[in-house]
Amino acid sequence: MNIAILSRNPALYSTQSLARAARVRHHYVRIIDYVNCDLIMEDGNLTISYHGQVIDNVDAIIPRIGATHTIFGSAVIRQFQQKGIFSTLSSDSLLMARDKLTCSQVLASKGLQIPRTIVSNNTYMYKGLLETFDNGVVIKLINGTHGIGVVLAENKAQAESILEAFNKTKQKSMMQEFIAEAKGADIRIFVVDGEIVGTMKRQAKAGEFRSNLHRGGSSNVEPISEKEKKVALEAVKHLGLKIAGVDMLRSARGPLILEVNASPGLEGIETTTKVDIAGRIIKFIENNVSITQPA
Ligand SMILES: Nc1ncnc2c1ncn2[C@@H]1O[C@H](COP(=O)(O)OP(=O)(O)O)[C@@H](O)[C@H]1O
Ligand SMILES: [Mg+2]
Repeated sequence: MNIAILSRNPALYSTQSLARAARVRHHYVRIIDYVNCDLIMEDGNLTISYHGQVIDNVDAIIPRIGATHTIFGSAVIRQFQQKGIFSTLSSDSLLMARDKLTCSQVLASKGLQIPRTIVSNNTYMYKGLLETFDNGVVIKLINGTHGIGVVLAENKAQAESILEAFNKTKQKSMMQEFIAEAKGADIRIFVVDGEIVGTMKRQAKAGEFRSNLHRGGSSNVEPISEKEKKVALEAVKHLGLKIAGVDMLRSARGPLILEVNASPGLEGIETTTKVDIAGRIIKFIENNVSITQPA
């Protein structure tokens, strides 16, 4: 099979791991920097050109779209999908999951629990609601990743100054109750094709509430409850994702979904759990793509 990994950086752990897993299974792999793809629409035809050459022999794509290129990345995926090429991630699901506001709306509308969340353009609205959150509030950028732009305000004055700064710089943000009892930990649940393939707990470093590994958090294998499994699988299903990293906080009122990552990194989960997750992803493609071309 001819598999294309859409990735900006061939040296990234996730890209390398996927490429290796595909080659081990005797597939031909190309790494395509999707930002440099040209999307051509003419005469009722969709074409993708890369460095001046039309891409016409791809059986499946594995999109690894970075946060700074979500919109164009989703357009590239759409172009491949409309050509009938199998994608491990649909353009619509990427857009839904990447936007923290849309993702929260979808999950909450399906009855899944998330931290209480408010999005408003009115600071007076925020101010009034601040009083209902006892432990402080987390203010986060709607399109942030790796914990950047996720800020804890312990009191009203702090929250107001953070909101002022975000509003002044025209950054869209959302405000959430702070789940103090999570004690700086969250659970990452990795799902491939409706199956949980790895779970880990990430713990923030001392003095930090964000557990992201990029922010210095540490990780270890963590068993999860039946309820947590059910909630994670439901969330992924509602967002239409086949490969996802579901982040969950353990709160006094049960599991709360923080976010669902549509291009979850493989390094943390593979090194922590020792599971060949890239291999599971390639197997998922094999199960869905019937045309087997010689490499
Ligand atoms: N409402 C909250 N209560 C407690 N901790 C939170 C809350 N929101 C985020 N965090 C912590 O901050 C981290 C980053 O937040 P998240 O919403 O996942 O943003 P990002 O997309 O940047 O990872 C989480 O992994 C979690 O440890
Ligand atoms: Mg996160």
